[in-house]
Amino acid sequence: AKHAELIASLPKAELHLHIEGSFEPEMMMQIAERNRVEIPFKTLEEAKAAYNFSNLQEFLDLYYQGMNVLRTEQDFHDLTWAYLKRAKLDNVQHVEMFYDPQAHTGRGVAFGTVTEGILSALKQGEKELGISSMLIMSFLRHLSEEDGFALLEESKPWHDKFVGVGLDSSEVGHPPLKFERLFARCRELGFKLCLHAGEEGPPSYVREALLDIGADRIDHGNRSMEDAGLIEILRDTQTPLTNCPLSNLALCVIDDLKQSPLKAQLEAGFLVTVNSDDPAYFGGYINRNYEQISDALDLSAQQVVQLAKNSFTASFLPENKRSHFI
Ligand code: HPA
Ligand code: ZN
Repeated sequence: AKHAELIASLPKAELHLHIEGSFEPEMMMQIAERNRVEIPFKTLEEAKAAYNFSNLQEFLDLYYQGMNVLRTEQDFHDLTWAYLKRAKLDNVQHVEMFYDPQAHTGRGVAFGTVTEGILSALKQGEKELGISSMLIMSFLRHLSEEDGFALLEESKPWHDKFVGVGLDSSEVGHPPLKFERLFARCRELGFKLCLHAGEEGPPSYVREALLDIGADRIDHGNRSMEDAGLIEILRDTQTPLTNCPLSNLALCVIDDLKQSPLKAQLEAGFLVTVNSDDPAYFGGYINRNYEQISDALDLSAQQVVQLAKNSFTASFLPENKRSHFI
């Protein structure tokens, strides 16, 4: 890749990463064996062959199936630690990590088991790798708002461990306003609000997330580009968008990286960032996302630098820690 060395050298923040989506098939097979859980593939090749998606739902079906082998606090620790070690190689210095507690509590794994396993690895990552981190608890939007309120209640003892809350899973048919009261409550509690919107769903979902819910960040947001009024709002408010190029390609949100809206968004003055989303499933960690999108859109060195700076500007780090990178 043209800018590979530059990309590798730049300090980056990763703002859109689902820890369960960093579950590499090798580790999945190891943990399946250790927990004596059956999985539908025996080899790495079989696993990778299954990772051939034509939309978000096909991915989500495998994503939820894969995480089914995670049972113990050690499993969640190992998963998170493996991601942090990998991120270190890409010069990630700060991560704001999503996780999906309902995908675990729904199959009988306790909230505390999941959360403590992740938190212990994050703490170790700060100490041993120098990666700062924040955790974002995500609500599954295919479930009900009532289920979301139950999670908010169950998670109460850990509320000081989360910087924010998210909204992910199957988008179409589950608009942000389905969770209007839940996010109003989360806002009152002081959480930052990060909503997936406009990945497969229409621009009206981005409008709802931004204007009705008051989102602090929009995850993906690709389809915002279909709405001229929204383009103006995103530019004027400098609401961060977390773009995920290889995810968009793998989930057929775009047919080719050349169709990515990223360059147009940069040139429109959006606060847009590059992220890996679910790197074990979509074929690349953060540097590979930067490299592939830079090549496909012929980004300039200056634009690549801008993207890395944007990742800190768009983060929830306090101003004095952000400014060091900007
Ligand atoms: N979109 C929606 N839900 C998700 C994603 C995504 O990109 N990754 C993990 N859960
Ligand atoms: Zn995502």
